[in-house]
Amino acid sequence: MNVLLLGSGGREHALAWKLAQSDGLDTLYAAPGNPGIAAHATCVALNATDHAAVVAFVKEHGVGLVVVGPEAPLVDGLADSLRAEGIPVFGPSKAAAQLEGSKGFTKDLCRRADIPTAGYVRVNTLAEAQAALASTFGLPVVIKADGLAAGKGVTVAFTKAEAEGTITDLFSVPGAEVVIEEFLEGEEASLFILTDGEALLPFGSAQDHKRVGDGDTGPNTGGMGAYSPARVLTPELERQAIDRIVRPTVETLRAEGTPFSGVLYAGLMLTEQGPKLIEYNARFGDPECQVLMLRFQGDLLAVMLA
Ligand code: AMP
Ligand code: GLY
Repeated sequence: MNVLLLGSGGREHALAWKLAQSDGLDTLYAAPGNPGIAAHATCVALNATDHAAVVAFVKEHGVGLVVVGPEAPLVDGLADSLRAEGIPVFGPSKAAAQLEGSKGFTKDLCRRADIPTAGYVRVNTLAEAQAALASTFGLPVVIKADGLAAGKGVTVAFTKAEAEGTITDLFSVPGAEVVIEEFLEGEEASLFILTDGEALLPFGSAQDHKRVGDGDTGPNTGGMGAYSPARVLTPELERQAIDRIVRPTVETLRAEGTPFSGVLYAGLMLTEQGPKLIEYNARFGDPECQVLMLRFQGDLLAVMLA
């Protein structure tokens, strides 16, 4: 089978390296790819925001599976455009990718399905945000822009002034949507689950190194490295996270007619009351994918097709 992999990061390099080892692989294309990926795939120039161009490429090159690496094309509905043409995709629909694309969507789903997560309110104006900060939340408090922000949309405010400044900034943009959350205490761990919308296949846990400098110093990044497994997520805690968080999420989305297929990346806080959901991503983590692919002993193409 020919496969098209979309993306250009370390995550996609790891996916390309592993896909290249699959028995069923014929030609692997990567768009746009990167110099590391070029050792495993034929890199092609394709703009993932141009759905018609991706569909045309797939048809022209007999591609049997499209693997979408990053979140933006998923939130943009690329998987729907491909599936509408009968093309298999690893990655969720636009509706299901809202798990990553809208923090408010995920919080509301948690409420509907009784999934443990931080208490929250969604606010649409500065006045609503100020009222919520004054009445509902103590300090520290967590303030998030609703949409995709490449890891930069979250502020943990430790003072009233910081919280005020954050909401003032966020609402300086017209139409802003914001989620204000209770601060959760504990250690964080990430859990990766493959799903076709129904069955769940735990794929391992990981933690990334967030701070830019050695010794956990400097500003937060998208992840300066990662390790797997995250041993703090014991088998018992992983079972709890699947039973109380991941399974109800997958079942709710399925019941509501928007099943999630692909990889569900659950960002968890391991609190004294057990695992709570911080956020979902609708794709593999970068750099977490690099350590997950090194550990995985199976046939990635076969698993992704399933
Ligand atoms: P997110 O983009 O939602 O993963 O948030 C980025 C980071 O902010 C997380 O990895 C946590 O370290 C922190 N964070 C987010 N939400 C909370 C919360 N409710 N309580 C404590 N820390 C949080
Ligand atoms: N390393 C964090 C992420 O991929 O979202």
